[in-house]
Amino acid sequence: MTTTPEIPAVATELTVNGEPHALHLEPRRSLADVLRRDLRLTGTQVGCETGACGSCTVLVDGEPVRSCLLLAVQADGCAVETVESLTVDGKLSPLQQAFSEQSALQCGFCTPGFLMLCTALLREEPAPSGPRVRECLSANLCRCTGYAPIVAAVESVNLSTEEQS
Ligand code: FES
Ligand code: FES
Repeated sequence: MTTTPEIPAVATELTVNGEPHALHLEPRRSLADVLRRDLRLTGTQVGCETGACGSCTVLVDGEPVRSCLLLAVQADGCAVETVESLTVDGKLSPLQQAFSEQSALQCGFCTPGFLMLCTALLREEPAPSGPRVRECLSANLCRCTGYAPIVAAVESVNLSTEEQS
């Protein structure tokens, strides 16, 4: 009888939401899986696992990434931000607050992915145009809310930012 040789674990260092983690990981495991199972950061949702829906979006070195498609070992040395990083001391981020106020979620499954996608957009462009918001949001799928409230939420963050300046 032949046995499959064991693939050795790979030492991987991740900084997740500002906390360093030294991990030993099977190289086949996705970043989403490691975030959810090893680090218990279950806010990141896994829908399709094929890169289609975007519900697993996290930021890796500031860029939105589909964490179901990235092997965790590929993120070695990177800074990862998940949806859990957005709420600080129990206070929602302005974008989370806007999602709540604009009823931009129903089941909420897609919401962490949209929040991380839009967080990256607003860091890069604090006041994106409507078409730019729509272009960005087209990366992710929502199966129940529809997209208008999500667009409205992102735009309301623009408005409140403008009012403060
Ligand atoms: S779960 Fe990653 S893109 Fe759908
Ligand atoms: S709120 Fe249900 S999938 Fe988007």
